[in-house]
Amino acid sequence: MLKIAVLASGGGTNLQAIIDAVAAKTLADVEISVVISNNQNAFALERAAKAKIAAVCISPKEFESREAFNRAFLDKLNGYRVDLVVLAGFLVVISPEMIAEYRNRIINIHPSLIPSFCGKGFYGLNVHKEALKRGVKVTGATVHFVDEGTDTGPIILQRAVEVKEGDTPKTLQRRVMEEAEWKILPEAIDLIARGYVCVKDGRVVREGE
Ligand code: GAR
Repeated sequence: MLKIAVLASGGGTNLQAIIDAVAAKTLADVEISVVISNNQNAFALERAAKAKIAAVCISPKEFESREAFNRAFLDKLNGYRVDLVVLAGFLVVISPEMIAEYRNRIINIHPSLIPSFCGKGFYGLNVHKEALKRGVKVTGATVHFVDEGTDTGPIILQRAVEVKEGDTPKTLQRRVMEEAEWKILPEAIDLIARGYVCVKDGRVVREGE
């Protein structure tokens, strides 16, 4: 049984995709031990509560320094003894201490085909705005391990999505979620749960399938 924590700051549709996959047993041998948000009003927390999953809010605003927040966050997370941390629209920078402690055990979903439209400042709707501005015809989503950089860790899965004439950032975001994010995030967790994902020389290799 792979125990996971899901970290989310907003609506939590990616969290919902994981909850649904666990319920449908397409994600077998996975337990969501806790959902943690930095945002008390995140709908993700309601989704967790509805699914009877522990829902925790820990906000930087409650702490006098970023260091104090980072320490408290890591302590809280460690209390759940999870095998994998899943960032599903989590907009807080992960501390170097947490990355070191959970090396190759934190994954993130990003709404573009990395290395396009990623890095500092590229999150949420902004990613799709920039993709439309550049006029790309294909975009997509990426699941990757989290390292010290922004969106620089080893890539686990990617899926391409067509950009259509007349797309707005919102319509493109929705298509990327439906056709890519909500599929590859549970798929990546499943591959990890089955022990098929290894990191070698900074890249993901799949073994034992
Ligand atoms: C998702 O599109 C996710 O890929 C993106 O935030 C959205 C969260 O939606 N994450 C990033 O941009 C990270 N750089 P959700 O709360 O409905 O899952």
